[in-house]
Amino acid sequence: MANSDKKIILTGDRPTGRLHLGHYVGSLKRRVELQNSGKFDEINILIADDQALTDNWDNPDKIRDNMIQVALDYLSVGIDPEKTNICVQSHIPALHALTFYYMNLVTTARLSRNPTVKAEMGMRGFDNEGLPVGFFTYPVSQAADITAFKATTVPAGEDQEPMIEQTRELVRKFNSTYNCDVLVEPEILLPSVEAQLRLPGIDGKEKMSKSLGNCIYLSEDPADLKDKIMKRTYTDPTHLKIEDPGHLEGNMVFTYLDAFCHDDLFAEYLPDYQNLDEMKEHYTKGGLGDVKCKKFLIKVLEEELAPIRARRAEWEKRIPDVYDILKAGTDHAVEETNQTLAEVRSAMRIDYFKDGSIKDEWDKIING
Ligand code: TRP
Repeated sequence: MANSDKKIILTGDRPTGRLHLGHYVGSLKRRVELQNSGKFDEINILIADDQALTDNWDNPDKIRDNMIQVALDYLSVGIDPEKTNICVQSHIPALHALTFYYMNLVTTARLSRNPTVKAEMGMRGFDNEGLPVGFFTYPVSQAADITAFKATTVPAGEDQEPMIEQTRELVRKFNSTYNCDVLVEPEILLPSVEAQLRLPGIDGKEKMSKSLGNCIYLSEDPADLKDKIMKRTYTDPTHLKIEDPGHLEGNMVFTYLDAFCHDDLFAEYLPDYQNLDEMKEHYTKGGLGDVKCKKFLIKVLEEELAPIRARRAEWEKRIPDVYDILKAGTDHAVEETNQTLAEVRSAMRIDYFKDGSIKDEWDKIING
């Protein structure tokens, strides 16, 4: 069957914790813009609970607890269930079947070279001996996620690039092996602003990540936000007195301002400067203190987070509706992905129970 020219988005998150600012700038904010752009025929967001189990198999309750949290995060940033289909990976059987077929088309050597898998193995202390097969093969399952929806576009952070590359390879391999054009090669859509590609944590050390304890959460309350910025956000340790020249590199206050600040906010909250460049210039020359910068940053972040928090509070009063959204979204995804699975099985000649398939062939062979 020929693929149509539909533009389809599929993206997803592991429900291992509440979503944070790194998710927001790296992906969520963009998803809302894409959703509202009207340029896509279909938008799907997958809550990847099966993938989350690949390194949390011994703690399924953690995944269970975060399912609704993540859904609330989506709804509170402005994902609209009328426009975007939110669905739950574990309850979409076609994804499992596709993963199993795709496993034949990828080698262990190729999976071992996937830089994201390598980095994550290191972080989780999985050496070659102790490497669970499920975790090792999750890029294959992610390829199933993407291709099952025939996604053309995957909005994601740059850490997902190796996954998309691997998916593209699998698509080519599948289509050439089975001489078909059933599967669609997806493209990654990276954040357009450099400062948003990979948001570091408040400690300035690595990317913002729950396991590193350096996050600002979307659902952070104002007092905690203030505390994290004022007391825990890394700036410039050589900037001891206000008059000292300050440094911008590795300074999280300016990293976050790069990602979130826009000129209008200066007039409102820091009229000494017209824009971020002016503020940076003063900081590097000396004479601008960290406390003032941090207070401005809190205003900038609050500007973004306050509406998210308000929407979350509304949705929290409607948990049964959130549940219904996930259920309906998953039912819809089951139908859609079963269609792809049927095409895949047909291309692979394993569509035995389809009308006119093996029964009629054998009937003809034996009974003429
Ligand atoms: N690997 C992604 C992450 O860790 C989650 C994910 C699962 C995903 N399936 C996906 C992302 C499909 C994009 C497309 O955040």
